[in-house]
Amino acid sequence: MSSERVEPNIGPVLCVVGARPNFMKMAPILRALAAHEPPLPSLLLHTGQHYDQAMSDQLFTALGLPHPDINLDVGSASHAVQTAEVMRRFEPALDTHKPSCVIVVGDVNSTLACTLVAVKKGVPVVHVEAGLRSYDRKMPEEINRVLTDQVADRLYTTESSAADNLQREGIALERVCFVGNVMIDSLLSNRPLARRTVDTLQANRIDPAVLGDGGRYGVVTLHRPSNVDDPETLRALLGVLGEVAARLPLIVVQHPRTRGNIERFGLGGLLDNERIALLPPQGYLEMLGLMSEATLVLTDSGGLQEETTALGVPCLTLRANTERPITVDEGTNTLVGSDRTAILQGVDDILQGRGKQGRIPRFWDGRASERIAADLWQWLQGSGHGVAAE
Ligand code: UD1
Repeated sequence: MSSERVEPNIGPVLCVVGARPNFMKMAPILRALAAHEPPLPSLLLHTGQHYDQAMSDQLFTALGLPHPDINLDVGSASHAVQTAEVMRRFEPALDTHKPSCVIVVGDVNSTLACTLVAVKKGVPVVHVEAGLRSYDRKMPEEINRVLTDQVADRLYTTESSAADNLQREGIALERVCFVGNVMIDSLLSNRPLARRTVDTLQANRIDPAVLGDGGRYGVVTLHRPSNVDDPETLRALLGVLGEVAARLPLIVVQHPRTRGNIERFGLGGLLDNERIALLPPQGYLEMLGLMSEATLVLTDSGGLQEETTALGVPCLTLRANTERPITVDEGTNTLVGSDRTAILQGVDDILQGRGKQGRIPRFWDGRASERIAADLWQWLQGSGHGVAAE
């Protein structure tokens, strides 16, 4: 019997990104595919869902992402139009590049749109960050998650709740593989490069004296439609931020959706506070620095809940639920919703040293992408699966 290994001819793995939270997940996957022995050829496709310099290009550069091989340039629109436009433009890309499989990450509209097109054309779909559930169908991301997982072929999970959720939805565990968290791969490899908060403030022409003598501060990000699209909800939340700022200076990093709504609803005055520094969307290394040095983070972002757990920084999540329960059970996250008393209590607890310390969840160790590359290689050859489902 010959001992020579016969490598199957594998077409390129088509890696899809669309919106900001996809970029930090895909960067380490691309690197791991290239570093795998033998290398897995890949192509990077950007749908163009996020297109601003600050929301897209700046992150590509900081994360060392290559220039996309394909850009669909879809831009912003209603959910229906945006999803449909990605689908319409993605189909010819599949026809041209004939990938061995498509990798989608997370839960944005681009994730679902590309999944639907690929599965209907018989191209295997691999979903990274599968199985997360908020059980809140009012979140557009929840719809994207449920539908993507139903039809994707290989499901990589970040935490143990995910396999339980998938099983409840009738998904066979053979399709599921627990690999850990690729976003934490990015965080750990970039942490030494994080930009200091003082430098970020100065780069935005803000005097670091805004942080006061102690230099302690909280970081705030808000962008969920449920928090920022309704004028009264947004007004109430901004009012609470004013009360928090009386206890701790705040750095508020504004998403374009939120900034637009604040202007449209005439709420800018609520952030006009000498203890609140307002920043436009930040690059990856700037955000990493802001979070790492913060006393606490107030957010409705999914990614920040995980990143603060990895950094050991207390996080108060301005949502009633989370699709990432491990950040609450094991990490530094506390759900406070939009309730004024709960938010202020959470802040006071942290300021009095009673913030959650947390521990690092299993496989949030910087090697999730490596596990994906190893498993994907096996899977594409149709010969068993390297890592067990949890
Ligand atoms: C999207 C994702 C959300 C993710 C968020 C991170 C969906 C359903 N939502 O929400 O899960 O947490 O990205 O940012 O996919 N805009 C710009 N420039 C840009 C992009 C957007 O100005 O580069 C503005 C536009 O006014 C646009 C609005 O932001 O209409 C919303 O953008 P969209 O991509 O629809 O959703 P996000 O709120 O960014």
